[in-house]
Amino acid sequence: MNLFDVYSLWNVELAKGEGCYVYDSNGNKYLDLYGGHAVISIGHSHPKFVENIERQLKQLTFFTNSVLIKQQQMLAQKLGDISGYADYSLFMCNSGAEANENALKLASFRTQRKKVLAFRNAFHGRTSGAVAVTDIPQYSSPYNLTENVSFVSLNDIEQTEKALKSREYCAVIIEGIQGVGGVRIPTDDFLRNLSSLCKTYDTMLILDEIQSGCGRSGKYFYHQYSGIKPDLITVAKGIGNGFPMAGVFISPEFKPVKGSLGTTFGGAHLASVAGCAVVDVMTNENLIANAEKIGGFLLKELSLIPQIKELRGKGLMIAIEMPEPVLEMRRKLLFDYKIFTGASSTNIIRLLPPLCITENDAQYFIEALKELKTKN
Ligand SMILES: Cc1ncc(COP(=O)(O)O)c(C=O)c1O
Repeated sequence: MNLFDVYSLWNVELAKGEGCYVYDSNGNKYLDLYGGHAVISIGHSHPKFVENIERQLKQLTFFTNSVLIKQQQMLAQKLGDISGYADYSLFMCNSGAEANENALKLASFRTQRKKVLAFRNAFHGRTSGAVAVTDIPQYSSPYNLTENVSFVSLNDIEQTEKALKSREYCAVIIEGIQGVGGVRIPTDDFLRNLSSLCKTYDTMLILDEIQSGCGRSGKYFYHQYSGIKPDLITVAKGIGNGFPMAGVFISPEFKPVKGSLGTTFGGAHLASVAGCAVVDVMTNENLIANAEKIGGFLLKELSLIPQIKELRGKGLMIAIEMPEPVLEMRRKLLFDYKIFTGASSTNIIRLLPPLCITENDAQYFIEALKELKTKN
């Protein structure tokens, strides 16, 4: 059987990972500034992460959500403590798209409305509901098209209020920082006004922190810079450091109804112990503070490179927008300098490194970029 050929691939096969580095099958070592698409938070194959999963694998691999899972309760406790959302409840699932589906469903159950307001350039996942609130037309099939979703421009509070005034919307869904859209950042004022409009018009505010969350921005969630408290927060990627898992943080205003949400795999034993290890390591190794520090260093150093058209970012979520397409530059970074980077659209390099990156790692990238730009 052939693989269904939907991904553009680099011709590299990775065999091993350690901290901020990955190694290919020929033993070449690469600096990972992509984090497997913002997934690797505490570092590749962190020993504590491996130990937790190994121990659990030997005890019990799986049983679904029809019995008490103390590991899931432990994870909820740890996530509540590290995020400052101890008063919220946690629903565990398997992927970012699924987390957003569940958040949208909860908002609709609660308000008994069916329309959703989303933002231009948004990306919330590939499943039906998530892709419907994603502003990338080529990701939607005719089956996904719906009149229940409208899009307004990010940071445009007037357009937002005009829509919400109709009181037809069950939810507004917004990324903490737009990732796929090119690291576009909602202003603190916009988030505060949005939160207050949602209260006025009885609309649930869903913060998709799947890419910007789990410490990447220098706070556990990006929206915490603005001081707001959304009704629902979705998490995935960094929460599992590579173990596929996701969750919805649910405000105490929501009362759980048996059977209203569910999943076979979500929050089972292995995922929960993986998630616990992530929180423990993040705390013990001060990785959120490190994200703020090294992110600040990168932004400062990058701002001195004159060939960059625009720089956006917070913590370790950074867009380097160039005046020309970046594919060739990324290819050279990968094969000549052994550095993995991400991209957004044709002209933007996106950095999403593990939160354990050091200043030396960051400096190596800056030097490589400068050298490339002076050569060309
Ligand atoms: C902001 C955001 N939301 C949702 C998703 C979808 O997550 P998943 O691919 O785990 O379904 C992503 C993935 O890139 C994302 O960046």
